Amino acid sequence: MASVSRTPVSDDEWTHLEFEISALFDGAPIDEEDLFAGRSTEVRRILETVLSRSKHVVLFGERGVGKTSLSNIFWKRFNKTLRSFVVARVQAGPQDKFSSLWTRALEELNAAGIAAGKAEYVNFEFGYETITPSQVRRELQKCGANALPIIIIDEYNEVKDSETKRLTANLIKEFYDFSITTTVIIVGVAENISELIEDHASIGRAIVQIPLNRMSSSELKEIIQKRISRTVMEFTADAVWTIVSLSRGLPYFTQTLSKHAALHAITDRRTKITNDDVEASMAKFIEDAEKGFQESYRIATRSNQENFFEQSLLACALAKTDDEGFFTANDVVEPYSAILKEKKRIAHFDKHLRRFSSDEGGNILKKRGGDRQQTFRFSDPMMQPYVIIRGIQSKMIDDTAKGVLLQKEQKE
Ligand SMILES: Nc1ncnc2c1ncn2[C@@H]1O[C@H](COP(=O)(O)OP(=O)(O)OP(=O)(O)O)[C@@H](O)[C@H]1O
Ligand SMILES: [Mg+2]
Repeated sequence: MASVSRTPVSDDEWTHLEFEISALFDGAPIDEEDLFAGRSTEVRRILETVLSRSKHVVLFGERGVGKTSLSNIFWKRFNKTLRSFVVARVQAGPQDKFSSLWTRALEELNAAGIAAGKAEYVNFEFGYETITPSQVRRELQKCGANALPIIIIDEYNEVKDSETKRLTANLIKEFYDFSITTTVIIVGVAENISELIEDHASIGRAIVQIPLNRMSSSELKEIIQKRISRTVMEFTADAVWTIVSLSRGLPYFTQTLSKHAALHAITDRRTKITNDDVEASMAKFIEDAEKGFQESYRIATRSNQENFFEQSLLACALAKTDDEGFFTANDVVEPYSAILKEKKRIAHFDKHLRRFSSDEGGNILKKRGGDRQQTFRFSDPMMQPYVIIRGIQSKMIDDTAKGVLLQKEQKE
């Protein structure tokens, strides 16, 4: 679709712009290099691993931080100079067994080679009913010497069968021992590698762990700028700032809020997107939010008495976190005091934290560490911006507190 290069005049042109915005900020995993923002360190580390013989990658992180997008993109960045990549992507599922997973991988790799006009690189058999690690390894040894085959297994956390995981680890070990040119990239939601790979110690040397953290403010800004600059629209600096600070490092929110804000400006026949449009996008966001969010929120905060669960949950969502999204009780003191407009201490909300990280509170938070240094994070990272936006919507934080609390995050 050709982009509209001047302020639309007719209704048709405005509609065209509306489509353009919806397509650009669609929230799907990215597979176009130009729209991919930041992540240069991770891209480099994956490429280094792929190019070093017989090392493999485990890419893991919270839900929605951009794992699939990164694995879609990293090889495209240098594909013009490194021509021999052949990339197969397999989505793992709860039903998968070793044979189903790896016959699919071979099939995909073969198809990818043929589609790239490199059939001679992928000259192996793949029609197996059942397959063993050694058979997979022998087939991949038949790959052309100049080929750089990559097999990406996404959503590996979905695999339930532990035998499948054990055999996959054996396979990686075998690839390593035989110096196979194929690189395996295991991708999944996990806090650490042992959640994803059974017995990972035995394949330690064969594996490069790449944790993917939340995105920085400047990376999130880049997401907005890269997209909006393809249109005639523009965000005010304020609007960008609000979206970025609400997103809590999660790119999906940046896209969704930007989209709703831009569409709101369009209904008003403006090309400049302001903070008011972002405010309006919050309402839309809450309206559209999955039922699951509303339900988890209700369980966490329900109570017969006035005991400020909603306020303390909001304070948790606003607390300063480390790169992995963890915060301590101490980090909650400041936002909680700002929300209640009164100096508060940990003792005032300690019980709330315990509630939020127990069955009673629906485990909306996840607890880590012993009694001394406990840290918390939202079990579902997506819940965090939801809680903040709800708090703003229901006026739990007034404008002054909002400025202070959101600004703080921004400065870091
Ligand atoms: N580097 C990036 N630049 C711009 N947008 C990104 C980037 N990474 C991710 N996104 C956007 O963030 C959202 C989530 O990305 P993606 O689906 O890749 O995450 P994920 O970690 O694979 O999620 P899940 O854990 O649900 O599988 C998508 O809307 C995607 O467009
Ligand atoms: Mg994904």
